[in-house]
Amino acid sequence: MDASVLAQVLRELPPIDDPNVLVGTSTADDAGVYKLRDDLALVQTVDFFTPIVDDPYTFGAIAAANALSDVYAMGGRPISALAIAAFPEDMDPQTIGAVLRGGADKAREAGINIIGGHTIKDDEPKYGLAVTGVIHPDRVLRNSTAQPGDVLLLTKPIGTGILTTARRSDRIGDDAMTVAIASMSALNRTAAELLDGCEVHAATDVTGFGLLGHLREMVSGANAGAEIVASDVPLLAGALELARAGVAPGGTKTNLAQALAAGVRFDERVDEALRLLLADAQTSGGLLLAMPAADAARYQTQAAARGVRAAAIGTIVGEPGIRVR
Ligand code: CO
Ligand code: CO
Repeated sequence: MDASVLAQVLRELPPIDDPNVLVGTSTADDAGVYKLRDDLALVQTVDFFTPIVDDPYTFGAIAAANALSDVYAMGGRPISALAIAAFPEDMDPQTIGAVLRGGADKAREAGINIIGGHTIKDDEPKYGLAVTGVIHPDRVLRNSTAQPGDVLLLTKPIGTGILTTARRSDRIGDDAMTVAIASMSALNRTAAELLDGCEVHAATDVTGFGLLGHLREMVSGANAGAEIVASDVPLLAGALELARAGVAPGGTKTNLAQALAAGVRFDERVDEALRLLLADAQTSGGLLLAMPAADAARYQTQAAARGVRAAAIGTIVGEPGIRVR
């Protein structure tokens, strides 16, 4: 759902007053966190969606990586997952099996098992996971606690929404999707594990609301602002050209309209296509991290050594609002 409608319906829910709920629905964070003991809390999240690639096994793998990501974005360690799926009545059992196998293999890569699930019949296939993780209650990484002066790091390139939309309408071939598929399938596990020795003020992952939408949640929660250098944001090859040709999913256009309505300011040099890309709805995107400059630099070096490219894309500033130059 779009962010403003979601925020509106969530406001109508009864308030949460259980003191063991460390993170609930009030801050638009990535997952709920529930304290079991002074040294142990659960991280709980659920995510599922309709197929975004043709290959059923790859769809299952991407959906699982995407669902696991919200646990990593909280600083948690996944321990188990349940599958949630809907398939058309006439769908070939082998295809269904491939989706589930893609998810199960990705979960194994994360070091966990899918220990149950639920399926229903539906004309439109859907698949995803409810993931449970654990975390020390003092080490929860919220999305709302960035501080002025923090460097913003992004651990995956953006553009998956535009590329998958282009593929769906046959504007690009399978070849052009290879890098995007590898990126969406990649776990944020290494990116999250490397945070262990670093000071991190805030973390989230970039998914449906796009880079600007998730950044907006980050800065508004912190009562701060951000300055982004558009040319430093890593882009998937071909995405900018497709945006220039007018290719963008509806969610991306909505995200950009909402960014503008919320007062995100773009320098003139940032053209319309790049603005769209910065708002592009991502699937299984990277982590967006706010860290003191020295920690960010150290993290970038360590990440590079483990094959994760963490790009410095801007800074947190004291003055509220987002400026893109
Ligand atoms: Co998230
Ligand atoms: Co989610």
